[in-house]
Amino acid sequence: MKRLLVSLWHWLDDRLGLGDLLGPALKHLVPRDATWWYVFGSATLVAFIVQVVTGVALAFSFVPSSSQAYDALRFITDEAPFGRFLRGLHYYGASAMVLMVGAHMVQTFLFGSYKYPREMNWSTGVLLLGFTIAMGFTGQLLRWDQTAAWSVVVAAEQAGRIPLIGDFVARFILGGTTLGGATLSRFFAIHVFLIPAFMFGFIGLHVWLVLRHGISEPPVPGKPVDPATYKKEYHDEVERTGVPFWPEGAWRDFVFGTALIVGIVVFAFVYGPPPIEKPPDPSILQADPRPDWYLLWYFAVLALIPPKIEGPVMILAPALIGVILLLAPILGNHGERHWSRRPWSLGAVVIGVLMVGSLWISGAKSQWSPNFEAAPLPVTIVDASGGIVAEGARIFHDRACITCHLIEGQGGRRGPDLTLVSDRLSENDLVLRIVNGGGNMPAYASILTPAEVDALVAFLRTRHRAELTK
Ligand code: HEC
Repeated sequence: MKRLLVSLWHWLDDRLGLGDLLGPALKHLVPRDATWWYVFGSATLVAFIVQVVTGVALAFSFVPSSSQAYDALRFITDEAPFGRFLRGLHYYGASAMVLMVGAHMVQTFLFGSYKYPREMNWSTGVLLLGFTIAMGFTGQLLRWDQTAAWSVVVAAEQAGRIPLIGDFVARFILGGTTLGGATLSRFFAIHVFLIPAFMFGFIGLHVWLVLRHGISEPPVPGKPVDPATYKKEYHDEVERTGVPFWPEGAWRDFVFGTALIVGIVVFAFVYGPPPIEKPPDPSILQADPRPDWYLLWYFAVLALIPPKIEGPVMILAPALIGVILLLAPILGNHGERHWSRRPWSLGAVVIGVLMVGSLWISGAKSQWSPNFEAAPLPVTIVDASGGIVAEGARIFHDRACITCHLIEGQGGRRGPDLTLVSDRLSENDLVLRIVNGGGNMPAYASILTPAEVDALVAFLRTRHRAELTK
């Protein structure tokens, strides 16, 4: 058996030259002291492979037609064997990939690995980051539910604001002037053919560059990169102390990659894919579109900036970030690599992480959008005395006041918390606020009957400290 396999290998190797191709790649020397910090690149590749495999499997059952996509997805999720699990794998695989790309980027930046001669390792990586985000966005759309549909509308509006070519780009995104079947076909083609083709190409180039220049040695403070001598020093050092990539260098990548796959599988199995919401209905404006978690922070930016500067910020900020990232290695391709000697770079990373982190938290809370899922207020809050107060509490829910206002932690956060509203407002104030609205609070004069307003006010009059603690 073993002899058969060996001769089969020799036959293939003779024809294909696999050994010549893979041998140097596997045997090339890597710095001995490469540590656990170096695993994120290979982990990104592992996540990408998970995405390719699960994506192809999903494509077997997906129908990129606006009339059937939603049902196809329901079928995959609820009926197809392992369908739910498969969707889960693809979703958590995407999350893992975004996380790994982010970690890989922060690590290579902090280690100064983008400096000479690895500038293009970095810039192909930046492009791959862009492709990864684009995959996340287009993939979310293929769910073809309310959120998906509205996200595209938002994206198209955003694109429409680009000077000169805006109209064209918006039309390209929508596949016409409105959201419809053509939009879905287009996003499907982009998600499964166009971007993956670029990704395969750039991943190939990226890996080739990693092999060509070798893995950067861990930075040492006081040992700057000098393009004139770096390559020779690196090669001498690796010749002297390096270890072959396979197996001595790669075991950490292997362990971490395996752990990543196990993590994706466990999450997919335990939590399952994100739920599919209602089918898209362009006539329902009430949707509360929210991107998947990795784009939530950007969603927060758009929600929080003043509407006047929204246009320029939407377009300029991402363009600027992209250009800065692409230029980083060209601006500083030599000098100190260790982060302790690069305070500005370290500061930029810390500020970037803090900014995205805090935006991400506020995106997750999204206090600016109404909470349409608010449950009716429980009896304990409504007060047992019943009558007009209970009636007011019921109206507070039924007329959707609760989607914007909190009562004892229940409801939405778009408006002020009304738990203790009567500590600050008189009966008269309450009536005026409800009837006239103002400042993002709708006016209810023409919506509520005077009796309903009375009941609401009676309910809100119970919301003060003295009353509640007695
Ligand atoms: C679309 C979201 C939204 C809905 C729905 C809504 N409100 Fe408001 N409400 C607000 C906002 C925002 C404010 C703050 C307005 C401002 O800037 O002064 C507010 C303010 C108020 C205030 C004044 C609170 C204070 O502390 O100054 C009261 C009282 C109030 N709303 C009651 C209601 C009632 C009763 C309903 C249901 C009939 C309701 N709201 C529905 C958004 C909403």
